[in-house]
Amino acid sequence: MPLPPYEPVLLRHANQPGMHTLEAYLSHGGYGAARKALAMKPAELIQLVKDSGLRGRGGAGFPTGLKWSFVPPPDRVPGPRYLCVNADESEPGTFKDRYIMEGDPHLLLEGIVITCRAIGANVAYIYIRGEFALGAKILERAVEEAYRHGALGQSVLGTDFRLDVTVHRGAGAYICGEETSLLTSLEGNRGYPRIKPPFPAVVGAFGQPTIINNVETLANVPPIVERGAAWFKSIGPADDPGPKIYCVSGHVKKPGYVEHAMGLPLRALIHDFAGGILDDRPLKAIIPGGSSSQWLTPDKIDTPLGFESLKKVRTMFGSAGTIVMNDSVCVVDALWNILRFYAHESCGQCTPCREGSGWLAKIFERIELGGGREDDIANVLDICDNMRGKTICVFSDATAMPVQSVLDVKNYPDNGAFRAEVEEHIRRKCCPMGKHKPTHVAPVRQHGRISPRLVV
Ligand SMILES: Cc1cc2nc3c(=O)[nH]c(=O)nc-3n(C[C@H](O)[C@H](O)[C@H](O)COP(=O)(O)O)c2cc1C
Ligand code: SF4
Repeated sequence: MPLPPYEPVLLRHANQPGMHTLEAYLSHGGYGAARKALAMKPAELIQLVKDSGLRGRGGAGFPTGLKWSFVPPPDRVPGPRYLCVNADESEPGTFKDRYIMEGDPHLLLEGIVITCRAIGANVAYIYIRGEFALGAKILERAVEEAYRHGALGQSVLGTDFRLDVTVHRGAGAYICGEETSLLTSLEGNRGYPRIKPPFPAVVGAFGQPTIINNVETLANVPPIVERGAAWFKSIGPADDPGPKIYCVSGHVKKPGYVEHAMGLPLRALIHDFAGGILDDRPLKAIIPGGSSSQWLTPDKIDTPLGFESLKKVRTMFGSAGTIVMNDSVCVVDALWNILRFYAHESCGQCTPCREGSGWLAKIFERIELGGGREDDIANVLDICDNMRGKTICVFSDATAMPVQSVLDVKNYPDNGAFRAEVEEHIRRKCCPMGKHKPTHVAPVRQHGRISPRLVV
């Protein structure tokens, strides 16, 4: 079925040359939404965003207006409020925020002005991933321009609203995208996540109420103020509305990003926008929402991409980073690759995550290199079980979820072919696809002293 026509909202100017300058932004009516917002009451702005149905684009899909409403009133918690912009964008397969920051930085700054007005913050930090050197430079220049223009500073756009914005570069740790870890890092400490509650909206940066929002979430705010909640709700599914930037990578002919309405079917993303499967080989698996999400089999290709629709097929929309695998991929090799990343990036505070991520990576390495054991699958599922819901942050769950989706056929009955491939590796003591030569050397065991369950 042909897709309904769609007019870009978030990237409408981002691909035009020179759009990163204030002059170009103003020529398209830039900061008009901020002017409108500054004439509104904060509670009205929060209600507007609630009514629009905007859900956070950072991963969890939490309703944005509702999150803003959690900031306590000053008579209950006095002192400053902060906005922290999550520009860490480190989830493998995800590269959407960088195009907003590099292509249309004033759109983000306008979203920041409106959000700060809504939550009563006079200071905002943009926490940007260390590797985004170009994005940081462009943003710093845009912030300077905005101060000169009076869109930031002591009297924002001639009103009595005061706002300072600082660009803060991270040092390249994946975990600093997790919101509490971002705050710890921003405060100058090692980027360790914190236990919630208290939630950052009540106790956040420097102990004060703080809202953390993703870059793309905030880029949606000026158009909502400009065109209204009903317009926003009319784009895509009613329970999951709005414009969306989708990323697609892996085995497609034209990897990249595209903006469309929420609810774009996977098939359209892969075939209409990304040119179809690389080398015209059969599709084997789809990771729909960044490397933490549960894998899908090819028969799910007509699933719409959205927070609610992907839940129905037991996976998640996450950061909208779709990774496509054709039949040249070995399931064990691909999982080993993902698990090496998580084992490396675990911050190490919680035992199930620190140990579990490392054990999983080692077990999949051993299976791929010809050292698979009969009890491996049961052990892996046991480890995953112990990694779910038992740690400070959900990094541990995110590590276990793709593995469970491949092996746990009780909960993912459609994914039996993935598990069968792992079983074949174990049975044949090699990679049946020949991705790696069998090089595994069995370790010498000290009988009776090391529990076989712990030997990975
Ligand atoms: C391990 C981990 C990494 C994350 N990385 C990012 C990230 O790079 N960018 C992001 O916006 N959110 C990331 N998140 C989600 C944030 O914790 C948070 O939910 C989000 O920034 C909230 O913004 P939103 O409500 O606008 O989506 C991550 C979460 C976890 C658990
Ligand atoms: S779950 Fe993992 S990443 Fe999160 S705090 Fe614990 S050890 Fe760190």
